[in-house]
Amino acid sequence: MDTPICDFVENYIEQDCLRLHMPGHKGESFLGIEKFDITEISGADSLYQASGIIKKSEEIASEIFGAHTFYSASGSSLCIRAMLYLAMLLNKNKSGKPYVIAGRNAHKAFLSATALLDFDIEWICGKDSYLSCEICPRKLDEMLLAAKDKPFAVYVTSPDYLGNICDIKSISSVCRKHNVLLIVDNAHGAYLKFLKKSMHPIDLGADMCCDSAHKTLPVLTGGAYLHISENSDMYLVRKAKDAMLLFGSTSPSYLILQSLDKANVYLQSYTKRLEDFLPDIKTLKANLIGRGFELAGTEPLKLTVMPKSYGYTGHEFADELRKHNIECEFCDPDYVVLMFTPEIGAEGIKKTLKAFGEIKKKDAVLKTPPEIKVKEKVMSVRQAYFSLQEECDVKNSIGKILADSMIGCPPAVSVVLCGERVDESDVKCFEYYGINKVKVVKE
Ligand SMILES: Cc1ncc(COP(=O)(O)O)c(C=O)c1O
Repeated sequence: MDTPICDFVENYIEQDCLRLHMPGHKGESFLGIEKFDITEISGADSLYQASGIIKKSEEIASEIFGAHTFYSASGSSLCIRAMLYLAMLLNKNKSGKPYVIAGRNAHKAFLSATALLDFDIEWICGKDSYLSCEICPRKLDEMLLAAKDKPFAVYVTSPDYLGNICDIKSISSVCRKHNVLLIVDNAHGAYLKFLKKSMHPIDLGADMCCDSAHKTLPVLTGGAYLHISENSDMYLVRKAKDAMLLFGSTSPSYLILQSLDKANVYLQSYTKRLEDFLPDIKTLKANLIGRGFELAGTEPLKLTVMPKSYGYTGHEFADELRKHNIECEFCDPDYVVLMFTPEIGAEGIKKTLKAFGEIKKKDAVLKTPPEIKVKEKVMSVRQAYFSLQEECDVKNSIGKILADSMIGCPPAVSVVLCGERVDESDVKCFEYYGINKVKVVKE
């Protein structure tokens, strides 16, 4: 398997050129990786006008994913903005304001795209957590039937942060029936392509999706893919690079591009690696359930614990795991998310099992999470983002319009949406999730 980007950089290092070009480290070792860190020198191609080694590498990735695949060195966040821009280009409903039907658990990058591209959102709300949103294909069908003007896309986050997976196959047939594009935030699911029976959104009928390669594949942080289905309008493919350039840095990291390039080799045999590893994680999950742990989600590589049934909040349980030298991906009052890949190996599984075995069950009365609701918006997300803002303590925010919920990453999903007026129940919600300050629209 060719690795054109890695090969080019290796050759360049061997030549030992005087680097009178960016970056300023000149290949000298500070972190130790600088010699690999080049820029768009002669022969190195250019990510957004790819015609050489990057194009070749992306073609290899396209072959692997069975899609038109484009690299991002700025994560899925960049791909999300690009996908929404692309979908807007195909918007046929030119009369009303363009809008998207979206699951309420959308990542912050979706909200920033909303603000930048100035479209409206019709939210579908989840029941159990602000991080989850089951999209019922029948209800979606009803929504689309009832819509006077069609949305320019349906936007679904699957898998979500907790490991829940939507029925993309049914959702995509509903979208196709109504001639509406389906965009999937598959940031957590790059590996789904490599299950024995692919569960990748593109294989299940999505028009576009993003995968954060760095989240579940052995790729450096920031490495991601934008995939466009081979069945989609070719205009999306022709405009994909322009869309990425519109939001991305003109200096994408070649370290990340090499990492994506190298991953292509690994991905050739990844189905086998997953096949070998998945029984271990299945056994781990079964074992934990047997010991009385409640788990959430069905995503094969994610282990989401609901530790309240064991007497711990998510934060307390994460601390218990830290005592065993295990660091989780994410915790909140209700959940602890642990992410596995074959790279963790059998030893990692053993260590996890041992740690869980040593955590003692407790009796504790713990608070239940507040209900998540969608309220009437007072102003659009864009108006809220572009308004004069001030920071205030959550307890002083009642009656004010939320401009930024100030939720960090992870999980970067808002518990209350900007553009909505904060009420008492929102304050309870902020407090429950440990958010003490918010940004509100200055009056
Ligand atoms: C559901 C979801 N979508 C998108 C993103 C953004 O991905 P990236 O970090 O690759 O930009 C994240 C990041 O955590 C995420 O959890």
